[in-house]
Amino acid sequence: MNVIVAVTGSIAAYKAAVLVRELRKRDISVRVIMTPKSKDFISPLTMATLSSNPVAVENFSPENGSWNSHISLGLWADLMIVAPATANTISKMACGIADNLVLDTCLSCRAPVWVAPAMDVDMYENVATQDNLRTLSLRGIRIIEPVSGFLASGLTGKGRMAEPEVIANEIETFFGFNRKLKGKKILVTLGATREKIDPVRFISNYSTGRMGIAIIKQLLSYGAEVYAIAAKTEVGFPESSFLHIINVESADQMLDAAKQYFPLSDCSFFTAAVADYRPKCSSESKIKRKYSDLSLELVANPDISFEMGKIKGKGQLTIGFALETSPDCSLASEKLRNKNLDAIIFNSLSDSGAGFGFDTNKITIVTSDNHISFDLKSKDEVAKDIVNFVVDNYLNQLD
Ligand code: CTP
Repeated sequence: MNVIVAVTGSIAAYKAAVLVRELRKRDISVRVIMTPKSKDFISPLTMATLSSNPVAVENFSPENGSWNSHISLGLWADLMIVAPATANTISKMACGIADNLVLDTCLSCRAPVWVAPAMDVDMYENVATQDNLRTLSLRGIRIIEPVSGFLASGLTGKGRMAEPEVIANEIETFFGFNRKLKGKKILVTLGATREKIDPVRFISNYSTGRMGIAIIKQLLSYGAEVYAIAAKTEVGFPESSFLHIINVESADQMLDAAKQYFPLSDCSFFTAAVADYRPKCSSESKIKRKYSDLSLELVANPDISFEMGKIKGKGQLTIGFALETSPDCSLASEKLRNKNLDAIIFNSLSDSGAGFGFDTNKITIVTSDNHISFDLKSKDEVAKDIVNFVVDNYLNQLD
C-alpha cells in the first residue's frame, strides 16, 4: 500500500516524522511531500531517511530542473494524508488553490485524501476554519479530528494533531489489513520460464505472472514474509520490505532457488508456468537461417512442485495451479496426488475470461476430498479467495 504524507508548516510537523515511522513499521510505502514553510519545522532529510524515499518540496528541482510530478504522485498513492494540516492549507484546499506541491497533489490525487488538522485552539474554533473543514468533509475528504490538550501556544484546548500511532492504526484499518499471516514465510513461484535455444531465442509460454502477483499482494496484506521466485513476468511487483524477489530465467534455475527457499517456508504457491521441456543443447552462437529443415531436440525439465512435494515436511503446505484446456477437474485431482499437494487451483481455458492475458479468472479449488467452484472474478478477488481458503482451512497446520 502506498501513502503520501503531506507535511505543512506547523509545530506538529515533528509528529509527521513519527507517523512516517509508524506507517513503515506496518509495511506501508511512504512518500513525503512538504510545503516550503514546513521545512522551518522539520528537515526533508529526516523525512527522506524515515520514509526511505526522496522528499519533494518544489514542483521541480532547482538544480537540474527535473520535474516532481504531482500527477504521478497522485496516481501512485492509495491514500494521501495531510498531516499536520495548518488552517492556511485547509482554507486553500477548501478554495481549490494550487500554489505549492502539496496543494497541487491534493487536487490531482485520485486516491482518498485525509486531513489531520493541527493548530491553536482559537484558530481551530474560528468559524472560517470550521466552515472550511465542513466543506472538505462534504467533498469526501476525511478529517482526523484533533484532540484536546496542552498546545504549543501555551493555551489548552482542541487543536493538537491526533497521535501518529492512532492515525497509522486508522490507515491500517482503512486498508483492511489483517495480520493473519504475520510471521509466516511463504514461497511463491511465478512467471513464465525461458528455456534458451541460442543467445537470442528461447522457448516460453503466454503466462504474464499476474495471478502470482495478485497472490503475493494478498499474502503481504496479511503480514506474511514472501519469497517470490520469479521467472519472466509482465506486471510489476508491489513495493514491500516483506517481499524478497529471487529472479530466475529457466526451470533449472527455478528449481535451484526453490531448493534453497522451500525448506524455510510454511506454505508454497506454485503459480509459475514452467516450460515442461528445454532444448537438449543450447547453441553458444546465434543459429543462422541456412537450413531448410531444423529439428530441436527437447528434454524434460524438472517438475518443481513435484520435487518439493517429495521433500515436504510436516506442517508445510503446498498449493499448485492447473490450467487445462478441458473443463474436467479429474486432471487436477490427479496432479494433486502426483505432486503431493494440499490443494490445486484448477482453471480451464474452456471458460471465457479465464487463462493467460485476462484480468479475470474462474477457478475451482480441488482438495483430496472437496471441489469448490467460484464465479468469474478479477484476478485480485480470485487471489483473495485462494489465500482466504488456505488461511481458513489450514491455518491450524501452519501454527
Ligand atoms: N509445475 C512445476 N514445475 C513444472 C511443471 C509444473 O512446478 N516443471 C507446477 C506448476 O507451477 C503448477 C503445477 O505444477 O502449480 C501444475 O502445472 P501444469 O503445467 O498444469 O502441470 P504439468 O505437471 O506440467 O502437467 P501437464 O503440462 O502435462 O498438464
